[in-house]
Amino acid sequence: MANRYLIANWKMNLPPAGIEPYMAQVAPVDAGDVRIVIAPPFPYLEDVAALKRGTSVAAQNCGDHEKGAYTGEVAASMIRDCGARLVILGHSERRHVYGESDALIARKLAVALLTGLIPVLCIGEDLRTREAGKVAMALAGQIRATAIESLEGADEVVIAYEPVWAIGTGRNATGAVCAETVVHIREALTRFWPRRHANAPVLYGGSVTPENVGDLETNGGINGYLVGGASLDAGKFLGILRVMRRLT
Ligand code: PGA
Repeated sequence: MANRYLIANWKMNLPPAGIEPYMAQVAPVDAGDVRIVIAPPFPYLEDVAALKRGTSVAAQNCGDHEKGAYTGEVAASMIRDCGARLVILGHSERRHVYGESDALIARKLAVALLTGLIPVLCIGEDLRTREAGKVAMALAGQIRATAIESLEGADEVVIAYEPVWAIGTGRNATGAVCAETVVHIREALTRFWPRRHANAPVLYGGSVTPENVGDLETNGGINGYLVGGASLDAGKFLGILRVMRRLT
């Protein structure tokens, strides 16, 4: 089980340099104890998997049923068949742009676990919630709503703390804000999830760059990063990895 992660979330983009040159730069790198994960859009999962070497592949979403008449959805088993080991669930763009509810995300979590994919469950508060001082309550609510039975038998679940106000905005949470929030997340995990997940890796996501990751790494109390914008450039993505490795 990896304890440190660096995940490239390409969202609905491809690296401008192209998949092959990108993977030629990223895949051979010695990442030490950091598990590097690449999350391309669905149609490119196999291409990335074919070039992955020591890295892992994730999908950015999955359907909430095992199979059936669900036009436009992609089953967790199909994702696994394409070479992915992980799946990002409940990303704030899924929650806020596409209206995914906690209940839907909980069903996706169940299907992912049943299929043997490692879920990367995203949680995070919006700006109003933070300004109202209700962060702990909001995050605990998201964790409680996904406290499904099959977590009892799950070996590995990754949590990604992604404050909505920090995603794609250029405004990242500081290390101090992360550290304080991770305490709330761990309290909620201990309270609502099976005990085995009390030490689940907690990642941070939201405008992470090689420039700001030093503070997050030193003060954030986190186990890695889910990177959007900066992950499209292999040089920047590896710049983040370099800071992670230097500081350990
Ligand atoms: P960002 O995206 O790094 O572009 O803010 C992070 C994410 O949404 O996972």
